[in-house]
Amino acid sequence: MHGDAVVTRSAGGYTSLLVMELAELRQQVDDVKARLRARLDEVSDPAELEAFRVEFLGRKGEIAGMFKQLGALPQEQRSEAGALLNGLKASASKAFEQRRSEGSRKAVAERLAREAIDVTLPGRSRPVGHLHLLTQVQHEIETIFLHMGFDVASGPEIETDYYNFEALNIPPDHPARDDWDTFYIDDTHLLRPHTSPVQIRVMEKSSPPVRIVCPGRCYRRDTQDSTHSPVFFQVELLWVERGLTLANLRYVIGLFVHEFFGPGYDVRLSGDFFPFTEPSVQLHMREPGAGKWLEIGGAGMVDPAVLENVGYDSESVTGFAFGFGVERMAMLKYGVKDIRTFLANDLRFIRQF
Ligand code: FA5
Repeated sequence: MHGDAVVTRSAGGYTSLLVMELAELRQQVDDVKARLRARLDEVSDPAELEAFRVEFLGRKGEIAGMFKQLGALPQEQRSEAGALLNGLKASASKAFEQRRSEGSRKAVAERLAREAIDVTLPGRSRPVGHLHLLTQVQHEIETIFLHMGFDVASGPEIETDYYNFEALNIPPDHPARDDWDTFYIDDTHLLRPHTSPVQIRVMEKSSPPVRIVCPGRCYRRDTQDSTHSPVFFQVELLWVERGLTLANLRYVIGLFVHEFFGPGYDVRLSGDFFPFTEPSVQLHMREPGAGKWLEIGGAGMVDPAVLENVGYDSESVTGFAFGFGVERMAMLKYGVKDIRTFLANDLRFIRQF
Protein backbone atom coordinates (compact mmCIF):
# COMPACT_ATOMS: atom_id res chain seq x y z
CA MET A 1 0.00 0.00 0.00
CA HIS A 2 1.05 3.60 -0.47
CA GLY A 3 0.77 4.10 3.25
CA ASP A 4 3.81 1.87 3.83
CA ALA A 5 5.82 4.33 1.75
CA VAL A 6 4.89 7.16 4.16
CA VAL A 7 6.58 5.57 7.14
CA THR A 8 9.63 4.43 5.25
CA ARG A 9 10.48 7.79 3.66
CA SER A 10 13.56 9.63 4.92
CA ALA A 11 13.08 12.73 7.08
CA GLY A 12 14.85 14.89 4.47
CA GLY A 13 12.18 14.81 1.81
CA TYR A 14 9.37 14.65 4.28
CA THR A 15 7.41 17.77 3.44
CA SER A 16 7.34 17.23 -0.28
CA LEU A 17 6.81 13.56 0.23
CA LEU A 18 3.96 14.21 2.56
CA VAL A 19 2.39 16.60 0.09
CA MET A 20 2.67 13.89 -2.45
CA GLU A 21 1.27 11.32 -0.07
CA LEU A 22 -1.72 13.50 0.53
CA ALA A 23 -2.10 13.90 -3.20
CA GLU A 24 -1.72 10.19 -3.46
CA LEU A 25 -4.35 9.69 -0.84
CA ARG A 26 -6.60 11.98 -2.80
CA GLN A 27 -5.94 9.90 -5.87
CA GLN A 28 -6.60 6.75 -3.88
CA VAL A 29 -9.88 8.20 -2.62
CA ASP A 30 -10.88 9.08 -6.18
CA ASP A 31 -10.02 5.55 -7.33
CA VAL A 32 -12.03 4.00 -4.58
CA LYS A 33 -14.93 6.31 -5.37
CA ALA A 34 -14.82 5.33 -9.03
CA ARG A 35 -14.53 1.62 -8.22
CA LEU A 36 -17.32 1.61 -5.72
CA ARG A 37 -19.57 3.46 -8.13
CA ALA A 38 -18.80 0.92 -10.83
CA ARG A 39 -19.40 -1.91 -8.37
CA LEU A 40 -22.68 -0.41 -7.30
CA ASP A 41 -23.84 -0.22 -10.89
CA GLU A 42 -23.32 -3.95 -11.21
CA VAL A 43 -25.23 -4.82 -8.02
CA SER A 44 -28.40 -6.59 -9.01
CA ASP A 45 -29.70 -8.21 -5.84
CA PRO A 46 -29.64 -7.73 -2.05
CA ALA A 47 -26.85 -10.34 -1.59
CA GLU A 48 -24.51 -8.46 -3.93
CA LEU A 49 -25.36 -5.21 -2.20
CA GLU A 50 -24.42 -6.73 1.13
CA ALA A 51 -21.14 -7.98 -0.35
CA PHE A 52 -20.48 -4.43 -1.53
CA ARG A 53 -21.14 -3.08 1.95
CA VAL A 54 -18.77 -5.56 3.55
CA GLU A 55 -16.05 -4.84 0.96
CA PHE A 56 -16.10 -1.08 1.20
CA LEU A 57 -17.90 -0.09 4.40
CA GLY A 58 -17.40 -3.14 6.62
CA ARG A 59 -15.30 -3.04 9.79
CA LYS A 60 -12.50 -4.73 7.90
CA GLY A 61 -13.40 -3.14 4.59
CA GLU A 62 -11.34 -0.98 2.29
CA ILE A 63 -12.30 2.40 3.76
CA ALA A 64 -11.68 1.21 7.31
CA GLY A 65 -8.22 0.08 6.11
CA MET A 66 -7.52 3.54 4.75
CA PHE A 67 -8.42 5.12 8.07
CA LYS A 68 -5.78 2.93 9.71
CA GLN A 69 -3.13 4.66 7.61
CA LEU A 70 -3.93 8.02 9.16
CA GLY A 71 -1.69 7.37 12.14
CA ALA A 72 1.30 7.21 9.86
CA LEU A 73 0.80 10.78 8.66
CA PRO A 74 2.26 13.72 10.53
CA GLN A 75 -0.06 15.38 12.95
CA GLU A 76 -0.73 18.50 10.81
CA GLN A 77 -1.81 16.42 7.84
CA ARG A 78 -4.11 14.15 9.70
CA SER A 79 -7.13 16.39 9.92
CA GLU A 80 -7.12 17.08 6.20
CA ALA A 81 -6.57 13.41 5.40
CA GLY A 82 -9.23 12.48 7.96
CA ALA A 83 -11.71 14.87 6.36
CA LEU A 84 -10.89 13.33 2.98
CA LEU A 85 -11.56 9.82 4.25
CA ASN A 86 -14.66 10.90 6.14
CA GLY A 87 -15.92 12.42 2.90
CA LEU A 88 -15.20 9.14 1.13
CA LYS A 89 -16.97 7.16 3.80
CA ALA A 90 -19.96 9.51 3.75
CA SER A 91 -20.32 9.42 0.01
CA ALA A 92 -19.92 5.61 -0.03
CA SER A 93 -22.56 5.26 2.70
CA LYS A 94 -24.88 7.62 0.86
CA ALA A 95 -24.44 5.74 -2.41
CA PHE A 96 -25.03 2.46 -0.57
CA GLU A 97 -28.19 3.74 1.14
CA GLN A 98 -29.48 5.17 -2.11
CA ARG A 99 -28.93 1.85 -3.86
CA ARG A 100 -30.58 0.00 -1.00
CA SER A 101 -33.70 2.13 -1.04
CA GLU A 102 -33.81 1.96 -4.82
CA GLY A 103 -33.56 -1.80 -4.46
CA SER A 104 -36.40 -2.01 -1.99
CA ARG A 105 -38.48 0.37 -4.09
CA LYS A 106 -37.80 -1.83 -7.07
CA ALA A 107 -38.69 -4.94 -5.08
CA VAL A 108 -41.95 -3.33 -3.98
CA ALA A 109 -42.70 -2.24 -7.54
CA GLU A 110 -41.99 -5.74 -8.83
CA ARG A 111 -44.17 -7.28 -6.15
CA LEU A 112 -46.97 -4.86 -6.90
CA ALA A 113 -46.71 -5.69 -10.57
CA ARG A 114 -46.69 -9.40 -9.78
CA GLU A 115 -49.66 -9.22 -7.44
CA ALA A 116 -51.58 -6.60 -9.33
CA ILE A 117 -55.34 -6.89 -9.03
CA ASP A 118 -57.56 -5.57 -11.74
CA VAL A 119 -60.18 -3.85 -9.66
CA THR A 120 -62.23 -3.13 -12.76
CA LEU A 121 -62.86 -6.85 -13.34
CA PRO A 122 -66.42 -7.82 -12.41
CA GLY A 123 -66.48 -9.77 -9.12
CA ARG A 124 -67.55 -13.36 -8.72
CA SER A 125 -71.09 -13.26 -7.44
CA ARG A 126 -72.00 -15.70 -4.73
CA PRO A 127 -75.50 -17.13 -5.04
CA VAL A 128 -77.76 -15.81 -2.31
CA GLY A 129 -80.50 -18.08 -1.07
CA HIS A 130 -84.01 -17.06 -0.22
CA LEU A 131 -86.79 -18.11 2.07
CA HIS A 132 -88.55 -21.37 1.26
CA LEU A 133 -91.94 -20.94 -0.34
CA LEU A 134 -93.67 -22.29 2.78
CA THR A 135 -91.91 -19.72 4.97
CA GLN A 136 -92.84 -16.95 2.55
CA VAL A 137 -96.46 -18.11 2.63
CA GLN A 138 -96.44 -18.19 6.44
CA HIS A 139 -95.06 -14.66 6.57
CA GLU A 140 -97.67 -13.50 4.09
CA ILE A 141 -100.47 -15.03 6.15
CA GLU A 142 -99.10 -13.42 9.32
CA THR A 143 -98.91 -10.03 7.62
CA ILE A 144 -102.50 -10.23 6.41
CA PHE A 145 -103.77 -10.97 9.91
CA LEU A 146 -101.48 -8.45 11.58
CA HIS A 147 -103.09 -5.81 9.36
CA MET A 148 -106.50 -7.06 10.49
CA GLY A 149 -105.52 -6.53 14.14
CA PHE A 150 -104.49 -10.07 15.13
CA ASP A 151 -101.38 -10.93 17.14
CA VAL A 152 -99.06 -13.75 16.14
CA ALA A 153 -98.73 -16.47 18.78
CA SER A 154 -96.78 -19.70 19.01
CA GLY A 155 -96.72 -22.86 21.09
CA PRO A 156 -94.59 -25.98 21.58
CA GLU A 157 -94.44 -28.74 18.99
CA ILE A 158 -94.10 -31.29 21.79
CA GLU A 159 -97.44 -30.98 23.54
CA THR A 160 -99.16 -32.55 26.49
CA ASP A 161 -102.26 -34.66 26.19
CA TYR A 162 -104.06 -32.02 28.25
CA TYR A 163 -103.54 -29.08 25.85
CA ASN A 164 -103.84 -31.15 22.70
CA PHE A 165 -106.99 -33.04 23.67
CA GLU A 166 -108.53 -32.66 27.13
CA ALA A 167 -108.72 -28.88 27.30
CA LEU A 168 -110.14 -28.97 23.76
CA ASN A 169 -113.06 -31.00 25.02
CA ILE A 170 -111.64 -34.36 23.91
CA PRO A 171 -111.41 -36.50 27.07
CA PRO A 172 -109.46 -39.80 27.13
CA ASP A 173 -111.19 -42.56 25.16
CA HIS A 174 -113.20 -40.02 23.17
CA PRO A 175 -113.60 -41.51 19.67
CA ALA A 176 -112.68 -38.14 18.07
CA ARG A 177 -109.05 -38.71 19.17
CA ASP A 178 -108.76 -41.10 16.25
CA ASP A 179 -109.23 -38.16 13.87
CA TRP A 180 -105.69 -37.10 14.73
CA ASP A 181 -103.29 -39.96 14.02
CA THR A 182 -100.95 -38.82 16.72
CA PHE A 183 -97.27 -39.62 17.36
CA TYR A 184 -97.03 -40.24 21.12
CA ILE A 185 -93.73 -39.68 22.95
CA ASP A 186 -94.95 -41.18 26.24
CA ASP A 187 -98.30 -41.48 28.02
CA THR A 188 -98.74 -37.73 28.40
CA HIS A 189 -96.52 -36.17 25.69
CA LEU A 190 -97.02 -36.13 21.95
CA LEU A 191 -96.01 -34.35 18.75
CA ARG A 192 -98.90 -31.97 18.22
CA PRO A 193 -101.10 -33.08 15.30
CA HIS A 194 -102.72 -29.63 15.07
CA THR A 195 -102.17 -26.07 16.25
CA SER A 196 -105.40 -25.88 18.26
CA PRO A 197 -103.62 -26.42 21.64
CA VAL A 198 -102.15 -22.93 21.17
CA GLN A 199 -105.71 -21.60 21.58
CA ILE A 200 -105.77 -22.97 25.12
CA ARG A 201 -102.26 -21.75 25.98
CA VAL A 202 -103.09 -18.21 24.82
CA MET A 203 -106.51 -18.04 26.52
CA GLU A 204 -105.06 -19.35 29.79
CA LYS A 205 -102.70 -16.40 29.85
CA SER A 206 -104.99 -13.61 28.73
CA SER A 207 -108.54 -12.42 29.13
CA PRO A 208 -110.95 -11.50 26.34
CA PRO A 209 -110.83 -9.96 23.83
CA VAL A 210 -108.34 -12.40 22.30
CA ARG A 211 -107.31 -12.15 18.67
CA ILE A 212 -104.43 -14.35 17.53
CA VAL A 213 -103.09 -16.32 14.61
CA CYS A 214 -100.55 -19.07 15.03
CA PRO A 215 -98.71 -20.69 12.16
CA GLY A 216 -96.85 -23.83 13.22
CA ARG A 217 -95.56 -27.27 12.37
CA CYS A 218 -97.73 -30.31 13.00
CA TYR A 219 -97.13 -34.06 12.86
CA ARG A 220 -99.44 -36.93 12.00
CA ARG A 221 -99.09 -40.61 11.32
CA ASP A 222 -100.81 -40.04 7.98
CA THR A 223 -99.83 -42.10 4.96
CA GLN A 224 -98.07 -39.86 2.47
CA ASP A 225 -99.87 -38.99 -0.72
CA SER A 226 -100.22 -35.94 -2.91
CA THR A 227 -102.13 -34.00 -0.23
CA HIS A 228 -100.86 -35.59 3.01
CA SER A 229 -97.48 -35.39 4.67
CA PRO A 230 -96.44 -36.65 8.14
CA VAL A 231 -95.01 -33.16 8.77
CA PHE A 232 -96.98 -30.13 7.66
CA PHE A 233 -97.95 -26.63 8.75
CA GLN A 234 -101.24 -25.30 9.96
CA VAL A 235 -102.27 -21.77 10.72
CA GLU A 236 -104.61 -21.45 13.67
CA LEU A 237 -106.85 -18.44 14.22
CA LEU A 238 -108.79 -17.55 17.37
CA TRP A 239 -111.00 -14.57 18.07
CA VAL A 240 -112.89 -14.39 21.39
CA GLU A 241 -114.97 -11.38 22.27
CA ARG A 242 -118.44 -10.32 23.25
CA GLY A 243 -121.08 -10.85 20.55
CA LEU A 244 -119.18 -12.76 17.83
CA THR A 245 -121.26 -15.00 15.57
CA LEU A 246 -120.79 -17.43 12.70
CA ALA A 247 -121.35 -14.49 10.33
CA ASN A 248 -118.18 -12.85 11.67
CA LEU A 249 -116.28 -16.08 11.06
CA ARG A 250 -117.62 -16.28 7.53
CA TYR A 251 -116.62 -12.65 6.92
CA VAL A 252 -113.05 -13.09 8.25
CA ILE A 253 -112.53 -16.22 6.15
CA GLY A 254 -113.80 -14.41 3.07
CA LEU A 255 -111.56 -11.41 3.72
CA PHE A 256 -108.51 -13.61 4.24
CA VAL A 257 -109.19 -15.73 1.15
CA HIS A 258 -109.54 -12.58 -0.93
CA GLU A 259 -106.32 -11.06 0.47
CA PHE A 260 -104.25 -14.22 0.17
CA PHE A 261 -105.53 -15.78 -3.05
CA GLY A 262 -106.94 -12.83 -4.91
CA PRO A 263 -110.18 -12.94 -6.85
CA GLY A 264 -111.66 -15.91 -8.66
CA TYR A 265 -111.19 -18.74 -6.18
CA ASP A 266 -114.28 -20.76 -5.25
CA VAL A 267 -114.95 -21.24 -1.53
CA ARG A 268 -117.26 -23.88 -0.06
CA LEU A 269 -118.20 -24.17 3.58
CA SER A 270 -119.91 -27.38 4.69
CA GLY A 271 -120.94 -28.86 8.00
CA ASP A 272 -118.35 -30.79 10.01
CA PHE A 273 -117.64 -31.93 13.54
CA PHE A 274 -114.88 -30.91 15.94
CA PRO A 275 -115.28 -31.46 19.70
CA PHE A 276 -113.95 -27.94 20.37
CA THR A 277 -116.27 -26.01 18.05
CA GLU A 278 -120.04 -25.87 17.77
CA PRO A 279 -121.23 -25.48 15.10
CA SER A 280 -118.26 -26.68 13.05
CA VAL A 281 -117.56 -26.19 9.37
CA GLN A 282 -115.09 -27.35 6.82
CA LEU A 283 -113.54 -25.12 4.15
CA HIS A 284 -112.90 -26.39 0.65
CA MET A 285 -111.51 -24.30 -2.17
CA ARG A 286 -110.73 -24.67 -5.84
CA GLU A 287 -108.66 -22.81 -8.39
CA PRO A 288 -110.25 -20.28 -10.70
CA GLY A 289 -111.79 -22.07 -13.66
CA ALA A 290 -113.09 -25.01 -11.65
CA GLY A 291 -110.73 -27.97 -11.01
CA LYS A 292 -110.78 -30.27 -8.00
CA TRP A 293 -112.02 -29.13 -4.60
CA LEU A 294 -109.23 -29.19 -2.01
CA GLU A 295 -109.85 -29.38 1.75
CA ILE A 296 -108.18 -26.38 3.34
CA GLY A 297 -109.23 -26.71 6.97
CA GLY A 298 -111.79 -26.76 9.72
CA ALA A 299 -113.43 -23.92 11.59
CA GLY A 300 -116.30 -23.15 13.93
CA MET A 301 -117.62 -21.28 16.94
CA VAL A 302 -115.54 -22.11 20.02
CA ASP A 303 -117.44 -24.64 22.12
CA PRO A 304 -118.57 -23.08 25.44
CA ALA A 305 -116.96 -26.02 27.27
CA VAL A 306 -113.56 -24.92 25.94
CA LEU A 307 -114.13 -21.34 27.07
CA GLU A 308 -115.09 -22.61 30.53
CA ASN A 309 -111.97 -24.81 30.63
CA VAL A 310 -109.80 -21.68 30.51
CA GLY A 311 -111.97 -19.79 32.99
CA TYR A 312 -113.88 -17.59 30.52
CA ASP A 313 -117.54 -16.86 31.07
CA SER A 314 -119.18 -18.52 28.07
CA GLU A 315 -122.38 -16.58 28.79
CA SER A 316 -120.74 -13.23 28.12
CA VAL A 317 -118.17 -14.00 25.39
CA THR A 318 -118.22 -16.09 22.28
CA GLY A 319 -115.46 -16.91 19.87
CA PHE A 320 -114.55 -18.56 16.63
CA ALA A 321 -111.49 -20.40 15.42
CA PHE A 322 -110.07 -22.07 12.38
CA GLY A 323 -107.13 -24.32 11.52
CA PHE A 324 -106.03 -24.25 7.87
CA GLY A 325 -103.36 -26.32 6.14
CA VAL A 326 -100.55 -24.04 4.95
CA GLU A 327 -99.23 -26.45 2.28
CA ARG A 328 -102.73 -26.92 0.92
CA MET A 329 -103.16 -23.17 0.54
CA ALA A 330 -99.73 -22.83 -1.09
CA MET A 331 -100.58 -25.70 -3.46
CA LEU A 332 -103.71 -23.96 -4.55
CA LYS A 333 -102.15 -20.53 -4.93
CA TYR A 334 -98.97 -21.63 -6.73
CA GLY A 335 -100.32 -24.61 -8.67
CA VAL A 336 -98.24 -27.21 -6.79
CA LYS A 337 -99.77 -30.59 -7.53
CA ASP A 338 -98.00 -32.75 -4.93
CA ILE A 339 -97.41 -31.78 -1.29
CA ARG A 340 -94.22 -33.90 -1.21
CA THR A 341 -92.56 -31.42 -3.58
CA PHE A 342 -92.23 -28.91 -0.70
CA LEU A 343 -89.82 -31.09 1.23
CA ALA A 344 -88.01 -32.78 -1.66
CA ASN A 345 -85.30 -30.08 -1.66
CA ASP A 346 -85.22 -29.96 -5.43
CA LEU A 347 -83.57 -26.63 -6.29
CA ARG A 348 -85.42 -26.51 -9.62
CA PHE A 349 -88.62 -26.26 -7.58
CA ILE A 350 -87.29 -24.06 -4.76
CA ARG A 351 -85.79 -21.47 -7.14
CA GLN A 352 -89.11 -20.85 -8.83
CA PHE A 353 -90.45 -18.95 -5.83
C1 FA5 B 1 -107.85 -29.72 12.64
O1 FA5 B 1 -106.67 -30.05 12.76
C2 FA5 B 1 -108.47 -28.73 13.53
N1 FA5 B 1 -107.61 -28.44 14.60
C3 FA5 B 1 -108.88 -27.50 12.76
C4 FA5 B 1 -109.76 -26.55 13.51
C5 FA5 B 1 -109.20 -25.51 14.20
C6 FA5 B 1 -111.15 -26.73 13.51
C7 FA5 B 1 -109.99 -24.62 14.92
C8 FA5 B 1 -111.95 -25.85 14.24
C9 FA5 B 1 -111.41 -24.79 14.92
P1 FA5 B 1 -108.18 -31.15 10.47
O2 FA5 B 1 -107.73 -32.41 11.05
O3 FA5 B 1 -109.29 -31.20 9.49
O4 FA5 B 1 -108.52 -30.03 11.61
O5 FA5 B 1 -106.94 -30.43 9.80
C10 FA5 B 1 -107.05 -29.14 9.28
C11 FA5 B 1 -106.26 -29.01 7.98
O6 FA5 B 1 -104.89 -29.34 8.18
C12 FA5 B 1 -106.67 -29.95 6.88
O7 FA5 B 1 -107.83 -29.49 6.24
C13 FA5 B 1 -105.51 -29.90 5.98
O8 FA5 B 1 -105.49 -28.71 5.22
C14 FA5 B 1 -104.39 -29.85 6.98
N2 FA5 B 1 -103.82 -31.18 7.21
C15 FA5 B 1 -104.25 -32.11 8.05
N3 FA5 B 1 -103.50 -33.23 7.98
C16 FA5 B 1 -102.57 -33.00 7.04
C17 FA5 B 1 -101.50 -33.74 6.47
N4 FA5 B 1 -101.19 -34.96 6.90
N5 FA5 B 1 -100.76 -33.18 5.50
C18 FA5 B 1 -101.04 -31.94 5.09
N6 FA5 B 1 -102.02 -31.18 5.57
C19 FA5 B 1 -102.79 -31.69 6.53
